[in-house]
Amino acid sequence: MSVSSFETGEGFSPRIETPHPARRRFASAIHLLPQGEKDETRFPSARKNLILLGMSTPEIRPATEADLPAITAIYEHAVRYGTATFELIPPDPAEMTRRFRALSDGGFPYFVAAVEGRVIGYAYAGPYRPRPAYRFTVENSVYLQPAIHRRGIGLQLMQRLIAECEARGYRQMIAVIGDSANAGSIGVHTKCGFQMIGTHPSVGFKFGRWLDTVMMQRALGEGATTLPKDETA
Ligand SMILES: CC(C)(COP(=O)(O)OP(=O)(O)OC[C@H]1O[C@@H](n2cnc3c(N)ncnc32)[C@H](O)[C@@H]1OP(=O)(O)O)[C@@H](O)C(=O)NCCC(=O)NCCS
Repeated sequence: MSVSSFETGEGFSPRIETPHPARRRFASAIHLLPQGEKDETRFPSARKNLILLGMSTPEIRPATEADLPAITAIYEHAVRYGTATFELIPPDPAEMTRRFRALSDGGFPYFVAAVEGRVIGYAYAGPYRPRPAYRFTVENSVYLQPAIHRRGIGLQLMQRLIAECEARGYRQMIAVIGDSANAGSIGVHTKCGFQMIGTHPSVGFKFGRWLDTVMMQRALGEGATTLPKDETA
């Protein structure tokens, strides 16, 4: 899929015609078909948004290597046109595969949101820092196709990711958000219970301007209220 098709919705066919402008915007982006949703009860707010828009809830499922072409295209758009990531050159499929395998082999969760088999977003956790004392802390990433922002899908991905990280025993999740003007990312992390830690001003330079990073953090599971089991160091 071409990069521009993410913004225009080109390549997707609407199935629902409705006078509601928000529905028209979404219908131009993806097919809408009723489908089973295993996790809908866990994401009442996101589900409410989708119902209001007259669309079925996307499937949130673990990513596989077959999803990497779609993931690579979504990220390519974010690198080329956005300030959420400070990468300047989109990673090629081989590099995205290397990154995916490194996360999978390291025991980190990686999810996609898919509608009718089409991947429209993804989220994963990875190591916050490589030194071993950081081993209970993860850093998260979440990206969607631009055409489907603000439909509750980022929230669903994040809540699934948080639940899985808690199940795997991680205790803290950190978001390093590119650009203090990134209201979508700050908003979805706030809604997921992240607290604002602070801003590193002007640490990035992209598209001819200085960019901040915003640090947000959320405890996972028992957080720091208990010690991890079977750990002495
Ligand atoms: C950040 C991103 C994943 C959010 O996903 P999304 O599906 O658009 O967000 P949601 O619809 O799930 O929003 C959930 C909540 O977050 C907040 N939020 C989302 N977008 C917002 C915005 N633009 N302004 C303010 N708050 C916002 C709201 O509280 C919202 O709940 P509400 O709609 O009931 O008010 C998505 O916008 C995206 O892919 N952005 C570009 C890449 C990026 O910035 N990734 C994050 C890297 S750290």
